[in-house]
Amino acid sequence: MAKTKTVYVCTQCGADSPKWQGKCPNCGEWNTYVEEIVTKEASVKKVIPGLPRDEKVRPLLLRDITAEEEERLDLQDGELNRVLGGGLVKGSLVLIGGEPGIGKSTLVLQTVLNLKKVKTLYVSGEESSRQLKLRAERLGDEDNDCYILCETNLEQIFTQAANVQPDLMIIDSVQTIFTEQIESSPGSVSQVRECSASILKYAKESGVPVLLIGHINKEGSIAGPKVLEHIVDTVLQFEGDQQYMYRILRSIKNRFGRTSELGIYEMRRDGLREVSNPSELLLTQNHDGLSGVAIAAATEGVRPFLIETQALVSSAVYGTPQRSATGFDLRRMNMLLAVLEKRAGFKLIQKDVFLNIAGGLKVNDPAIDLAVISAILSSSLDITIDPGICLAGEVGLSGEIRPVNRIEQRILEAEKLGFETIVIPHNNLKGFDASKCRIRIVQVKKVEEAFRQLFG
Ligand code: TYD
Ligand code: MG
Repeated sequence: MAKTKTVYVCTQCGADSPKWQGKCPNCGEWNTYVEEIVTKEASVKKVIPGLPRDEKVRPLLLRDITAEEEERLDLQDGELNRVLGGGLVKGSLVLIGGEPGIGKSTLVLQTVLNLKKVKTLYVSGEESSRQLKLRAERLGDEDNDCYILCETNLEQIFTQAANVQPDLMIIDSVQTIFTEQIESSPGSVSQVRECSASILKYAKESGVPVLLIGHINKEGSIAGPKVLEHIVDTVLQFEGDQQYMYRILRSIKNRFGRTSELGIYEMRRDGLREVSNPSELLLTQNHDGLSGVAIAAATEGVRPFLIETQALVSSAVYGTPQRSATGFDLRRMNMLLAVLEKRAGFKLIQKDVFLNIAGGLKVNDPAIDLAVISAILSSSLDITIDPGICLAGEVGLSGEIRPVNRIEQRILEAEKLGFETIVIPHNNLKGFDASKCRIRIVQVKKVEEAFRQLFG
């Protein structure tokens, strides 16, 4: 919004004053001052509607507009490419957010090092060039075209970018850079917003894609304004439990592809490794004969994978039973426990319940409910679930099993991995011809039915 201020102007001689005056000190006339609203200089420059504008920008008929496929840069990383919707779009601004230490710089540096014949400008405001060199060596520094610039002044960065003329620019991190146009310190809301807006302008005008790294604050949002997420084209979130080696790259917003796409990495001593078949990785443990383990047929984005849910139910030592969940929403687990109590008549009040999703993954798919509730019951009864069975289904408050999306992908993935039986919600097959499948499909309406299948 334009900032406005009022002045009082003498209608006789044109002198102005910030306050109203009875007699003009300039021309000596009485009662000539009137109030006037003036807009500040900055907003005067703005284009006034109705005035002739730059001829280049004209409205076009939608049918005359040709939409070519966006030109994309192949990042040589299957997971990253897929999460971005098939590579990095030229001239786009991508924000990679994540907690400090999760591996954002590692991911980006590693990607850059793998790129051949792509001139990259890596701007680091956090680490020295020596630190970056050491990291690059650790990641297997190869022959590549990567320029390192340790600079936090945005104007300087653009000057250097004009010299280098990169094909790809990295800014690590948005919270450390500042523009001279604004007084406030780096990392402040206005700095972050102004800097990203300038970077967006640079990306759009030059066609150079920019990867912007941003830290996440304790509340889980990208530090700085929410506005930042509106400015950029794509927001990716890098997350994972630091104790575990798996890292997940999620797309939260994408102007050039679908969101809810997921990339999985494994953090190793020599960098991140793409996990292209998550199921095999999440099911490696041999758990024959163990109670409290159930396999869920989950999906993230378009990719189905099977994941192990583990539960431990034991007698509560203290008055208040403990409830703890890793990788699963604790409130949702409490709700499932209430369903178990009410529908299946199991007394869990005096029990401690611990729940764990394999690999420390956080799965948002509601279809893992059925596996969670089955694992809890399995541990409580100390009866093993047949390792050849997997489950998919959302559990409702009255114990009904509700349909889930992408059921055929789940079934096919389970079949591919050699499962013999999959338990799915009733009426979920809608048009999918399951007769060709070798896997046995069991449809259930209520949790009780599912339990009968599993525990006899
Ligand atoms: P980093 O990329 O610096 O995190 P961010 O930029 O998100 O703050 O990652 C730091 C962590 O990653 C650090 O704890 C060490 C670990 N790491 C590895 O395990 N293997 C590696 O090859 C590298 C480079 C880092
Ligand atoms: Mg970093």
